[in-house]
Formats: sequence, C-alpha cells, structure tokens
Amino acid sequence: MGKFYITTPIYYINAVPHIGHAYTTVIADIIARWRRLAGDDVFFLTGLDENSSKTVEAAENMGFENPQEYADWMAEKWKNVWRILCISNNDFIRTTEERHKKRVQEIFQRLLEKGEIYPGIYEGLYCDGCEAYVSEEDLVDGKCPLHGTEPKKVKEENYFFRLSAYRDTLLEHLRNNPDFIIPEARRNEVVSFLQRGLKDVSVTRRGLKWGIEVPGDPEQRIWVWFDALINYLVAQDYWPADVHLIAKDILRFHCILWPAMLMAANYPLPKKILSHGFLTVNGRKISKSLGNVIDPVYLAEKYSPDVLRYFLAREISLGQDGDFSEENLRRRLNDELADVLGNFIHRVLTFIHARYNGRAPEGELDREFLEEVNKRVREIIRLMDRFEVTRAAEEIVNLARLGNEYFQRCKPWESISTKPAEAAKCLLSCLNLVGTICVLLSPFMPITAERLSKQMNFKVERLDQALRPGILPGHEIGKPEPLFRKAQDEKTAEAAVSREVTVSDFEKMDIRIAKVLSCEKIKGSEKLLKLSVDVGGEVRTIVAGIGKSYSPEDLVGRLVVVVVNIKPAKIMGVVSHGMLLAAGDDENKLSLLVPDRTQEPGTKVR
Ligand code: MSP
Repeated sequence: MGKFYITTPIYYINAVPHIGHAYTTVIADIIARWRRLAGDDVFFLTGLDENSSKTVEAAENMGFENPQEYADWMAEKWKNVWRILCISNNDFIRTTEERHKKRVQEIFQRLLEKGEIYPGIYEGLYCDGCEAYVSEEDLVDGKCPLHGTEPKKVKEENYFFRLSAYRDTLLEHLRNNPDFIIPEARRNEVVSFLQRGLKDVSVTRRGLKWGIEVPGDPEQRIWVWFDALINYLVAQDYWPADVHLIAKDILRFHCILWPAMLMAANYPLPKKILSHGFLTVNGRKISKSLGNVIDPVYLAEKYSPDVLRYFLAREISLGQDGDFSEENLRRRLNDELADVLGNFIHRVLTFIHARYNGRAPEGELDREFLEEVNKRVREIIRLMDRFEVTRAAEEIVNLARLGNEYFQRCKPWESISTKPAEAAKCLLSCLNLVGTICVLLSPFMPITAERLSKQMNFKVERLDQALRPGILPGHEIGKPEPLFRKAQDEKTAEAAVSREVTVSDFEKMDIRIAKVLSCEKIKGSEKLLKLSVDVGGEVRTIVAGIGKSYSPEDLVGRLVVVVVNIKPAKIMGVVSHGMLLAAGDDENKLSLLVPDRTQEPGTKVR
C-alpha cells in the first residue's frame, strides 16, 4: 500500500466557488477516490487562502467589521459546497489557522537565518489582482493580461527571497524529471520562463493590517503567495505531495517559486504538478462583471451532484481549456449516462429480476467476452495512473456500450426459451460487467455507485474487483431502479409553449433572498436607487426604480428578493446586475417583496 498525497489550490474567499473551482476540486476528488480504491493510503487536501487583501476588501463590501468573521462565514459556505459535491478531502486548511501561521513564520525565520531571505528595497510594479510583483514583460499594453488592470508602482523596504539562486537547479530538476510538470506544453512554458532568467522576489509587504506578521518585524506582513504555498506542508507525514492539481493561471508559483522555497528550506519537492486548462462560459472568461459565473450548487441540485461530476470529468479534456454549457451537460446526461450506461445496467438488472426471480442465473461465464472487458479495464487503470481522467470516464461508458452490443447480439429474450444455457451465460456475464462498472464508476459518481451497489447487493471495496467482480450464480439482487433521469431539452420545451412557462422555464430564473448592504439615490433621477446587495457570498450592484416609494435609509439592512441571473443592463450609467422584485403600478406606492421570516442571503426562491 503506497502513500498518495494530492492537493488542490487553496482558494480565495472573496466569493463562493464557481464552476471553475468546482472543476479542480472534483477532478482532485476523483483521483483521490480512485487511489483509495486502489488501496493507497490517500491524503487529499483542499482549503482556503484567507490572508489575501481580497479578503479585507470583500469583508468591507459585505459590511463585516472584522475580516476574520467574514473568513469564518465564507469558510462554512465553501465547505458546504464541497459537501454537496461529495468531496472526500481528508483535511481542510485555512491559512488563518494557528497551525498554518506558525509553520509559515518558522519557515520564514529559518530562511532568514540561512540568508535565503534578506532585507532589501523593492522598486517596481505590483498587480493587486494577482497579488504579485510583475515585470514589464508580463504586461500586455501596460496591463496585467489576467486582470486587465494597470499594475501600480511601488517602492518599499522588503524582505527578498533568493529565488534567482535556484534557476539552474530547477532547470536541472526539470531535465531529470520530465514528468514533473504535466502536460508537456506547461512544462515547456516553465522551462522557457526559467531560461529567460530569474530575479529575487520580494516576500513581504509593508503597511498591511491583514496577513501573517514577519517574525520580529510587525511592520511587515508575509506576502500572501509565500504564505499560501506553505499550506501544502500541513500533512507533514505525507509530504512530499504526489500531485499538486492546479490550473495554468498559477503555474509559475507552483513550478518555480514553490520548489525553490522547498529547496531553500530543505524539503523534498512534490512529485508532480498537474495543470489543467481554463473553463470558459460560451467562449468567455468566467467573471463576475460579465455576469456569467456558473454556480455548481445550482447544477448539482438541478441534475444531481454525480451528473455534474461526470460532466466535468468527461467534457473538458484534462489539460486543455474547455467551454461550459448547460446544454452540453444535458446532452452528456441524456446520450451517455441515461441512454448508454443507465440503459445497459437497467436492462440487465430488470431482466434478471423478471426472468430469473432476481437471482444470477445458473450457468457459465462468457470467458471471451470477459477477456475483452478485462482488457479495457486494464486500459482504464493505465489511463488513471497517468491522470487521464477524461479518457477514463469515456472508456467506462464505452464498457456499457460494449455490454449493450453483447446483450443485443445474444438476444436473451429469445434464447431464454430456445437455448436457456446461452441466455444464462449472457446474463451472468452482463451482471458481472455491471459489477465492474459499479467499481470503476464509484470514484466518479459515488452516490450513483452506492445506489447501484444496493440494487445489486454488491459491495465495492477494491479496484481489483473491477477485473474479478466474482458475482456467482444464485447471487440475489435487489429491486432495479433507473439510475438516471433524462433532462428535457429546454429549447424545445420553450418552443412548444406560448405564454405558459414550464417548471424548467421557471427553474432558469435564479431568484434569491438578498440583503441590502448599502443604498443611494442615482443622481439626476427621482425614481432610481443604486443598491449594493449580498446575494449569498457575492455582492451585486442593482439599480431599482423604487425611489419614489422607498428612501435609501428604509432599505439598508433589509432582506429583499432579487432575480440574480437577469442579463446585466446599464441604467443611467450604472450597470445593474440583478432585478429587485416589487409589486404595484403606482410608482409612489410600490411594495417590495420580502421574505416573511429571516432567511440567509443567497437562499433560493422556488
Ligand atoms: N489562492 C490562490 C491559490 C493559492 S494555492 C497555494 C488562487 N486562488 S483562486 O481562488 O483564484 O483559485 C485559482 C484556481 O481555481 C485555479 O488554479 C483553478 O484551479 C481554479 N479555477 C478558477 N477559475 C477557473 C476556471 N475558469 N477554470 C478552471 N479552473 C479555475 O489562485
């Protein structure tokens, strides 16, 4: 039994997780669950990067006096999303925890004593969005390509980390360990960056009130990236990590800064950095200002957490960028999960239930067929060993496709009366294939696999059961039930009705309880108010035409009802990211819709 330590990035807490964060965490979870099944002693770590100035800003916007209170509130929200998505992390690190702060200060101190960190003066550019010092070469038209903002000029006394000293060793490490960074394109990117040379990097900031203090110099706080990377050392017994799963946006921090920090502090390096691509929505970057932030909880509730997990693993080829669309999710659910996987499983189980009294028939196994199955299972195991999660998901569904073809060829509904031994052989073999699929599916779709294993009266324990499910004649199965419900084509549903709305039409509306944080009149208008509302971990600006019925003071602190997924619109120069619900025709006597009991901001209206 080997140790296996996998991490996700620790996420910023200025908002709740969107589909991009869910993507990384779900993929890491699939890998972690797979390794557990394979018998490894797995440690799976995720958590939050809380010492960033984004935390202070978000806390202020949300009306929290104390960033720590905000962080505690947000941490619960993040943990809850991971619970909903069935994430099986072993620990959850928050960088405001004492255990983490202590380790960061210890390492900082150690490097200072060794001369790896030294005091100096930093003069250059700093991008607030990246929370990092940037150089002119990183900019496009003078702006940060990731955040579209101009970095600011800073000059301050700082502590520097001797990053430049590690360039050659890093290059050598990459040469000797060609799989250290995968995929290869990302590795090449890091190599060429290193070849251009490295500068020492400032690892403290002066004058911040939030963040980990520099030991012995409380004027300075430790740079959030230096602090954040050290989170991975929380599982000391498991270090070095086998895989750091990240996206390409934070490649350099993980492939250059982090290994150099580890070398300086005499720690072994992680074994692998696996960088996936970026998810876009309808071809555009996910961003709050574009209003295209996709909520994974909405999708998990609408389709099921497992369908979302499968879709994320299957749709976006690991390592490449990919586009998210709900229509594609429905297509994968209908065409692959329902029509192929669910269909094969259900027809096998219902046949056994109806024709063999719910027991695996007496007969032999079809060796030739199961040989082919095993060949494919071994290939799936190989794919997962190389972290080719997308292809593995595809091949699992292909196993069901193979099963369907076999079933079709054997025609057991005919042979059961003409050649009963043939029919029995087919069904016993198919039932074993369902067992195989149940095992392989469990890391991807844990809830579905659990339901299936109950229906089959079969316990998933180890990966090698996929090669030998061992379901014998006479094995009693439970009551078969379909595993997947097809999703309706929403466009067709739309076209089919005129003024009537279907439930799925209504479900498209994301209506939530929101709390008014601040409110002011829009200059030049009697009617329009500009509100800042908390819609559940996210602050939105909303313009509402209720100024003749309510004054700003009436509204601050109140719970209101907001359509949050309405297309943003510019009203009197202000972009409104939501619509406040109110009733009435007379603009002097409008009534706000409000919940009649206290509800958390973000609570859905259904
Ligand atoms: N706090 C730092 C990471 C510190 S790790 C020591 C950070 N946080 S983040 O909240 O911005 O998360 C970045 C990570 O979230 C990405 O590397 C990726 O794993 C995930 N994603 C965020 N948006 C994403 C997409 N649009 N698409 C895919 N993954 C995305 O950076």
